[in-house]
Amino acid sequence: MSGNRAAFLVEPKGCFEVRDAPMEQPGPGEVLIKVHAVALQPADEKVAKLAIILVEYPAVLGGPVGGIVHALGEGVTRVAVGDRVSCGTLIFKKHKPKYGGTQRYTLVSEQEVIEIGDTDFTKVVTLGSYTPPSCLFASNCLNMHWPSLPPKPLPAGEQGKKILIWGGSSAMGSLSISYAKQAGYTVISTSSPHNFDLLESLGADYIFDHSDLATVERIRDLFPIDYWFDTISLKPSVTTILKILAPEGKPANKAYIHMLLPLAMAGNPTLPEGVTTGMHFFSTQAPENADWAKFFLSRGGYMEKGIKSGLIQGVPPHLLGGLEKVSDGIEEVHKGVSGKKVVIDPWA
Ligand SMILES: NC(=O)c1ccc[n+]([C@@H]2O[C@H](COP(=O)([O-])OP(=O)(O)OC[C@H]3O[C@@H](n4cnc5c(N)ncnc54)[C@H](OP(=O)(O)O)[C@@H]3O)[C@@H](O)[C@H]2O)c1
Repeated sequence: MSGNRAAFLVEPKGCFEVRDAPMEQPGPGEVLIKVHAVALQPADEKVAKLAIILVEYPAVLGGPVGGIVHALGEGVTRVAVGDRVSCGTLIFKKHKPKYGGTQRYTLVSEQEVIEIGDTDFTKVVTLGSYTPPSCLFASNCLNMHWPSLPPKPLPAGEQGKKILIWGGSSAMGSLSISYAKQAGYTVISTSSPHNFDLLESLGADYIFDHSDLATVERIRDLFPIDYWFDTISLKPSVTTILKILAPEGKPANKAYIHMLLPLAMAGNPTLPEGVTTGMHFFSTQAPENADWAKFFLSRGGYMEKGIKSGLIQGVPPHLLGGLEKVSDGIEEVHKGVSGKKVVIDPWA
């Protein structure tokens, strides 16, 4: 027995099997983490059900993870053995099972490891995604003004500016509200009414029911809106946002909508003149993102401080159980979660 165990997806669109797995050694720049919590994401569900991203089978999905640094690869200086950390996994970049999260030990990249202090592992996997701060603050995304610690008022040119974050009770939407508020923006967001308390606790200034027909006009009453972020990016959200921007018989308001999925997932609607969209593709290693990575991801950087201090908040975790529950967790994500993140503890 190697000491490692994993939930393997045995074949494309197949079933999960929990069994012993190899105990891998970290290569240069890699960190071996003893995983105490791992989140299951919509992307894991889409791979498990539809095989939409190439992975090697038997596959190990899941991420981000929270856990303890177990071993360091050559050249790693950013963390030490025994550190409590969180990190995104590399399964969709490197495809091999040793990089998946639903196992007791996984390999991650030194560049993306965040030290978390005393933060609970189950909670931290809801906070550790760098997608929201990259969507909001990277220069080739929404390029909003960066937050600071301690917080400072927005510069004159940004003061009073508003962002619409569609889907505030999603994992990505909730974190985006938190980051946008830390930066000093006014946040307009949407969810089902049973999640209004969550959005309020995150600091959203205006909260609307995404299914209420009156929401379109109520959000139009808040114009001008300076930044547009659709964290759902499916037909219902895109259709409603386009109604807000371009009511029938009136000229469209100019806007750029940042999206988390390709427009094709929303049925490729015709965009009114002056409205553009962009799908989020982001690499922490790209030279144009070097300043962003230094500020947000580096040791002692904004994400580490924001998580440790409790300033960054997201949806609550829903701990389902151990590796045997991965299959149930994928089913739950498939049916659609509401205002929570499905989490697995590989040692439970
Ligand atoms: N491009 C990238 O780099 C990237 C990175 C991460 C995620 N993604 C994608 O982004 C999407 C969101 O991921 P996630 O993990 O944040 O999702 P999630 O937490 O699983 O989303 C669930 C939430 O979506 C909300 N929702 C569903 N339909 C809605 C609508 N029409 N309007 C407003 N809210 C709606 C629900 O709100 P209520 O229950 O309150 O109704 C629910 O709370 C996924 O498709 C994922 O694959 C892309």
